[in-house]
Amino acid sequence: MKIVAITSSPKGKNSTTLRLVNAALEGAREAGAETEIINIAKMKINYCKGCVSCYAKGKCVQKDEYNKIAEKFFSADGVILSSPNYIDNVSAQLKTFLDRSANSIHEQLLDGKYGLTLTTSGGSEYEGVLKVMSSFINRSGGLVVGSVGFSNAQGPQGAEEAIRKAREVGKELVAAIKEKRSYPEQEAPIKEWRRRFEQTLTFNKERWAHNYQHWVEKGWIKA
Ligand SMILES: Cc1cc2nc3c(=O)[nH]c(=O)nc-3n(C[C@H](O)[C@H](O)[C@H](O)COP(=O)(O)O)c2cc1C
Repeated sequence: MKIVAITSSPKGKNSTTLRLVNAALEGAREAGAETEIINIAKMKINYCKGCVSCYAKGKCVQKDEYNKIAEKFFSADGVILSSPNYIDNVSAQLKTFLDRSANSIHEQLLDGKYGLTLTTSGGSEYEGVLKVMSSFINRSGGLVVGSVGFSNAQGPQGAEEAIRKAREVGKELVAAIKEKRSYPEQEAPIKEWRRRFEQTLTFNKERWAHNYQHWVEKGWIKA
């Protein structure tokens, strides 16, 4: 079982958010998983150009490191998205990765997969940052097992508590994958979105040929 975590702080080894990611991965390894961190802040990922070729071809046409990262991320059994709070949102690095991954929503590339979301902030709230990342997982068809964040304003005790929680949710992630755990409150909106998107996809089936074929292969749509 493979868990892939994306980190997106430009601070590298000095990232506070990395402490949560390391703890979650430690928990996942204790529960028997193989783990990998991809630091997208160190990689070349251009902005999305909005050409939506990915809907037609199932792959981005830009020549940079995105496709290599996406291949690893979307083929993992479990995923972790992490980001510092930058102006009450994810970092630009992570937002760029999410924009480039719009096809994962169309093709539900996290269907049957599970994830975690992790963040840290300086002083204010961080729930909104967790929501951006968790929404991406849900909108890609995946289920969120847990979300952990802390504010540096909570001091060392707050950090320790969050690190402990991150290790626990790391273990839970592995357990959820093994048990194929159900999260009905997340599954209902995913099912409803798929029902509505089937019409959009049928309408665009020539333009978005790869998306349409993918849905036929998955048995979500009758050709
Ligand atoms: C550009 C920038 C924007 C930030 N915006 C916020 C913010 O809106 N709210 C907040 O509470 N902290 C904010 N912070 C503080 C970081 O979220 C906080 O220091 C975080 O722990 C950094 O994580 P990292 O070490 O993993 O990069 C900001 C920091 C930077 C550099």
